[in-house]
Amino acid sequence: PSTGAPRPPLPKAELHLHIEGTLEPELAFALAERNGVKLPYATQDELRRAYSFADLQSFLNLYYALMAVLRTEDDFADLADAYLARAEAQGVRHAEIFFDPQAHTARGVPIGTVIRGLARALDGAQETYGISTRLIMCFLRDESADSALETFEAARPYLDRITAVGLDSAEVGHPPSKFKEVYALAREAGLKCVAHAGEEGPPAYVWEALDVLGVDRIDHGVRSMEDERLVARLAADQVPLTLCPLSNVRLRVIDDLAAHPLPAMLDAGLLVTVNSDDPAYFGGYADDNFTAVRDALGLGEETLRTLARNSFRAAFLDEATRAKYL
Ligand code: ADE
Ligand code: ZN
Repeated sequence: PSTGAPRPPLPKAELHLHIEGTLEPELAFALAERNGVKLPYATQDELRRAYSFADLQSFLNLYYALMAVLRTEDDFADLADAYLARAEAQGVRHAEIFFDPQAHTARGVPIGTVIRGLARALDGAQETYGISTRLIMCFLRDESADSALETFEAARPYLDRITAVGLDSAEVGHPPSKFKEVYALAREAGLKCVAHAGEEGPPAYVWEALDVLGVDRIDHGVRSMEDERLVARLAADQVPLTLCPLSNVRLRVIDDLAAHPLPAMLDAGLLVTVNSDDPAYFGGYADDNFTAVRDALGLGEETLRTLARNSFRAAFLDEATRAKYL
């Protein structure tokens, strides 16, 4: 029935979320003030008006620039805590959170400051918000393979806090194979592996992420649909794909949400999940993405439940915890 109290959002896991992409204008200005950083925008509204992107690179330019306000352990803790509060309201019960250490170390912020700050917020998340958490350390693919190796070595003292490594930033021209060595080290150290692939880049990059890096999940992977053999492989191995529908529209990976291949991907037997990517920039958090695809694609209740269930199937959870959600 359409009457009665609004239903709570479906319980879900968020598997594709850049913590730096949760920096809302309000917090950006507060941290700028606290740290004496001058932003090139007079007001929050003026900043918001800059959130009109032609492609991935035009977004990344603003995303990296705004990180200038993140300087101290407290800043990273406040950023993560603000995300967790929003995630709770969106039905998120488990969050696997990306961070970009090189975007901070390049500005003189030590990797330990970043990880300790994030970890402090994550440590309180189960009790405060009922959300279990993992950290995924991403390498910037438009930086060198050596820089990724140096970053991994710098993170060694903190590897007990890190569940997986990932690969993000400007995709085209930076194939996964460039990072073969650091992924081998990560796997040797017992970490899981994921990589952004097939967002702006071609299906060949998804193949490389699978066969050269040996990833456990593909982030985005929307362009996999251009390659029938790849779809068959992803379906046969039930490789999870972390789709980010609102992101795809804002970064013009697709023309509009009604054209999103999500339904075709489900029909092809792919293990797809719905996530928010950089919600402060793309117009919505986890459940906002669920609602948006429901409305634009006419997804029924059963399909939404499948997507929520897939998020727990694809999560890096121990089997006893996973079983609670399935
Ligand atoms: N870094 C933050 N968001 C990203 C995205 N959607 N693709 C690649 N790198 C990113
Ligand atoms: Zn992403």
